[in-house]
Amino acid sequence: MSTVIGVAAGKDGSGKTFFASNLGAMLSLGGAAVCLVDLNYGMRGLDLAFGLESEIVYDLSDVFAGDATLRQAEVADERFETLSVFSCPQDIRKEYPAPAQVRRLFDELRKSFDFIIVDLPGGPLPMLADLVSGIDKAVIVTTPAPDCLRNAESVNEILRAKGVPKRFVLLNKVKPDLYADTAADLAERVVDRLRVPLVGMILYDDNVAYSALTGVPLVTEDSSLTDSFRRICLELAR
Ligand SMILES: Nc1ncnc2c1ncn2[C@@H]1O[C@H](COP(=O)(O)OP(=O)(O)OP(=O)(O)O)[C@@H](O)[C@H]1O
Ligand SMILES: [Mg+2]
Repeated sequence: MSTVIGVAAGKDGSGKTFFASNLGAMLSLGGAAVCLVDLNYGMRGLDLAFGLESEIVYDLSDVFAGDATLRQAEVADERFETLSVFSCPQDIRKEYPAPAQVRRLFDELRKSFDFIIVDLPGGPLPMLADLVSGIDKAVIVTTPAPDCLRNAESVNEILRAKGVPKRFVLLNKVKPDLYADTAADLAERVVDRLRVPLVGMILYDDNVAYSALTGVPLVTEDSSLTDSFRRICLELAR
């Protein structure tokens, strides 16, 4: 049984691509067949996260238009046993796919992959609702900032209304010294507000920016962050 995991966020820059790429890398290192699907039209980032930007010839807009096959748009990361990236166009003039096209894409990918991880556009945008049918689980990435949290609530509402059965929140870029409450209190406050379970909490860490520069997912090395992703994978694989 394959699982489609959508990664959404209340605001751009919350850490969706960081989270999606490391989740995918971790699941792949655990032996699963994983693909990462970038649906953040005009703001794609998964190609950069894996250092694959020069290898993209066709993107998903070519597939939806019938100008390329899914296999032609697939870029495998040879550093992993089974990890592929499907990019979206960087050209902001390209139109988003229709809900039925997205659903067909997921159904097709389910035949070859155990996990399909989808990097969604950031923010409670109207088109988000068209991209999430067929998603089994969603992770809403948010920082503790009030504006990000408020938008995360709206994103959760869109996902709930579209019938995404399981939704989680990931607190990212947490700076413990910045807030009056402890990490546990912060987590409780966020869960109370969004009314979805917390899948993990990730601290603000300069190594994340470094990994974004090098195109090497952080979970390929041992660290406390890798341990966090290991726990998150167990939670999401349930
Ligand atoms: N835990 C973290 N600690 C430090 N920096 C982080 C962390 N998470 C993400 N970042 C940095 O924040 C920036 C935005 O992260 P990322 O690109 O993953 O966000 P995004 O939600 O995908 O953004 P966009 O909406 O633009 O696609 C990047 O420079 C990334 O390296
Ligand atoms: Mg991104």
